[in-house]
Parts: sequence; C-alpha cells; structure tokens
Amino acid sequence: MATKKQVLYSATKPTGNLTIGNYLGAIKNWIGLMDKYNCYFCIANLHAHTIDLKAEFVKERTLEQFAMFLACGLNPEKATVYIQSMVSEHTELTWLLNCNTMMGEASRMTQYKDHVAKGEKGITTALFTYPILMAADILLYNTNIVPVGEDQVQHVELARDIANRFNHKFKDTFVIPKAVIPTVGARIKGLQDPTSKMGKSGDDPNNVIYLKDSDEEITRKIKRAVTDSLNNIAYDEKNQPGVSNLLTIISACENKPIEEVINELKGSGYGALKKRTTEAVINVIAPIREKYLELIKNPKKLIEIAEMGAKKAKKVAKVVIRKAKDAMGLI
Ligand code: TYM
Repeated sequence: MATKKQVLYSATKPTGNLTIGNYLGAIKNWIGLMDKYNCYFCIANLHAHTIDLKAEFVKERTLEQFAMFLACGLNPEKATVYIQSMVSEHTELTWLLNCNTMMGEASRMTQYKDHVAKGEKGITTALFTYPILMAADILLYNTNIVPVGEDQVQHVELARDIANRFNHKFKDTFVIPKAVIPTVGARIKGLQDPTSKMGKSGDDPNNVIYLKDSDEEITRKIKRAVTDSLNNIAYDEKNQPGVSNLLTIISACENKPIEEVINELKGSGYGALKKRTTEAVINVIAPIREKYLELIKNPKKLIEIAEMGAKKAKKVAKVVIRKAKDAMGLI
C-alpha cells in the first residue's frame, strides 16, 4: 500500500522583491522536495500589511513574487502554489488561534520586539499578532515540515506551542509542525552590513542582491561588498563577517562545502573571491531572471494559476477549519 505523503508548507511575504537570501535560505530547498512531499507554497500577502505599505505596492509585489516562485521552478502541477488572500480560511483560523495564544508568547517574538526597541512610531496590532497568522497558515494544511531560514524558526515553534495547547485543551485537531533549516544559507547577511540579515525591505539597495537584478547590478554590488583588511580567505563569522558571508553565498550557490571553496581559493586575494562570488550568483540568478521576465508579461495567466492553487488549498483548509470550530464548540 502506498503511504500518504507528508505535508510541507512554506511562504514568503511580499514586502519587497525576493532576494538571494530568500532563494538560498528557503526557495531553493523547496524545489527538490516537491516529489517527496505534498507541498504548499504561498505568497503571504496578508502579512505584508503588518507594516505601512500602499495597496498598489503590495499588489505589484504579490504578482512579482508569484511569478518569481514559478521562475525559480516551483511547479503548480505538482505543488499547491497560491496567494494567501485568496483563501479566507487563513484569517478565520487566526481568530481561533488568537484565543489560544498567550500575551507573553506573542511579546517574545523578535520582530515585534525589534520594532519596539527601535522606538518606531505607528506599530500596528497586526505586527504584534502576525506570528499567529503565520501559525494559522501552517496549521491549516496538516503540515508536518516547514523549511525556512533561521529567522523564521521562532515562529514555527510558536505554531507548535499553539497547536499543542489547542489539542490538549479541546481535542486532537492539529498536526504538530517542525521547522527545517538548510545546512548552508540559513542566514545570508547583507553585503554592506555583513553582521545582519540580508532583508528585502531594507533601505540600501547595495546591501541586497535581488533575484531580479541584472548581471551588471550583481557585479557592481559584489564589487562594493564590505570585506576586511586581513587579506585572508577564511570562514570566521566574528572577525571576518564579510568574507564569511561571500563564502557562504558561493557554497550555497554551487552546492559545495565551504571548506572546499576555501581550498580552491587558497592563496588568492579578495578580488578573486569577489569574482568567484559574482560568477556563482550570476549562474544561479540569470536563468531565473530570464524566466521571470517572460512570466511577468502575462499577469492574467499568473492570476489564473494562483486561482487554481487557491482552489486546491481551500479544499483542505475548509476541512481543517470545520474540525477546529467543532473542537471549540462553535456551531
Ligand atoms: P520572509 O518573506 O521574510 O522570508 C521568506 C523566507 O526566506 C528566508 N530568508 C532568509 N534565509 C536566509 N538568509 C536570509 N537573509 C533570509 N531572508 C529571508 C526566511 O527565513 C523565509 O523562510 N513570516 C514569513 C513568511 C511566512 C511563512 C508562513 C513562512 C508567512 N507564513 C508560513 C513559513 C510558513 C516571512 O516573513 O518570510
């Protein structure tokens, strides 16, 4: 008898253009798992409005990310590839989970804490509660594994805690998910600030390589990447964060252990290291960009594919919502 495939769920939020960090930390690892798992890949556009963004911006980024998912090789025939706002069960389950999440748990989530620590004005309640929406995304599909970059692990653990609490308080309803992070590429750092994560909505475009970037832009950005004055090609995150980040990028792009890359570059200077990084990145990005530029020309077709995915997603989501409402005594 054939065993049922386990469920894999992951998503990105359209607050900007996808970066090489999103690709190496997440999307790249999803591609090879499409045959083994029953996969759901989502553009989490409801998450985008946790920060102050214009409607048109969110709409454009949503379609762009959707096209980029397909360009990266996510196959809508094999996997369920969809846009979050097309499946209303996400927001419905969020409320049910809100009722089962402690203030203390939500307060511990790093992103909210970071925004508060920076003294930002205009923080919404959505920024505080969005990890609960993320828990709903995951729990809605009976998810077993969630492949993400390091920064999202805390949220997957919250989803686990909420699911466990719900199952104990009411009745066994949710599958308990588990985060999976890649061995290399789980945290790609910025090119200008290699001590913190390369994020898609940062201010300095030189800090970030976008999947949309031209070969010239990639070459220029890597040429300007911050290194150090030690002139030593070694992996040492504390003392040589810039060099270590470039080595990580090469290793993840070429699927080679970092030690092997270091060996190959032995005796070379930082010019050679940057040249090698540029080649590795262009080899990965150029074919994705070409496909993307074709796909984005036809937004109508993209919406059709997203609707097909949403229909598949809804079928499962409806059943899980009913189960959760029954468990909570909601007629
Ligand atoms: P987001 O959009 O910030 O990032 C999408 C994925 O990319 C990974 N990632 C990185 N990995 C390595 N290095 C980096 N510099 C880097 N930057 C981003 C992230 O870890 C993530 O895996 N809340 C989520 C989206 C989301 C989600 C979900 C994810 C919504 N619902 C359900 C999983 C399951 C987010 O903001 O990801």
